[in-house]
Amino acid sequence: MEISSKLIDLFMEAEKIAKNAYAPYSNFRVGAAILLDDGSLVTGVNVENRSFGLTNCAERTAIYKAISERKKDFAAIAIATPDADYPVSPCGACRQVLSEFMGKDTPIVFGASKDNLVLTKLSEVYPFDALHELKK
Ligand code: THU
Repeated sequence: MEISSKLIDLFMEAEKIAKNAYAPYSNFRVGAAILLDDGSLVTGVNVENRSFGLTNCAERTAIYKAISERKKDFAAIAIATPDADYPVSPCGACRQVLSEFMGKDTPIVFGASKDNLVLTKLSEVYPFDALHELKK
């Protein structure tokens, strides 16, 4: 599937913000960028902790920032993992949190670089989600 320039631009925002990741334990930086229906952007990075289980992924940081700013009309999300040499998809916990706030057709683009991107959508990475099933 052809990836629109809007989504590639969004990915580049995720790539840029990934530099701000706090990842001294894994050295695996992740950046996320959410595009809102009004055209604005909210970004986030992974924030690790020496108590490893307290780590917050980039996707959830971005979502929680957006909700804190009363921004909830999510049009798309991009995730950049510049320290990988292959595209890394959102973890299971993030898929659950994404499903709370995104429609089943919301585009998700992820990759290690803009030359190797995967375009998918929420219903593909999180099928049979109870929230969306119940909404039918
Ligand atoms: N991580 C994310 O931020 N998002 C993902 O989708 C995958 C994993 C972070 C968590 C941890 O800080 C590091 O990547 C290594 O797992």
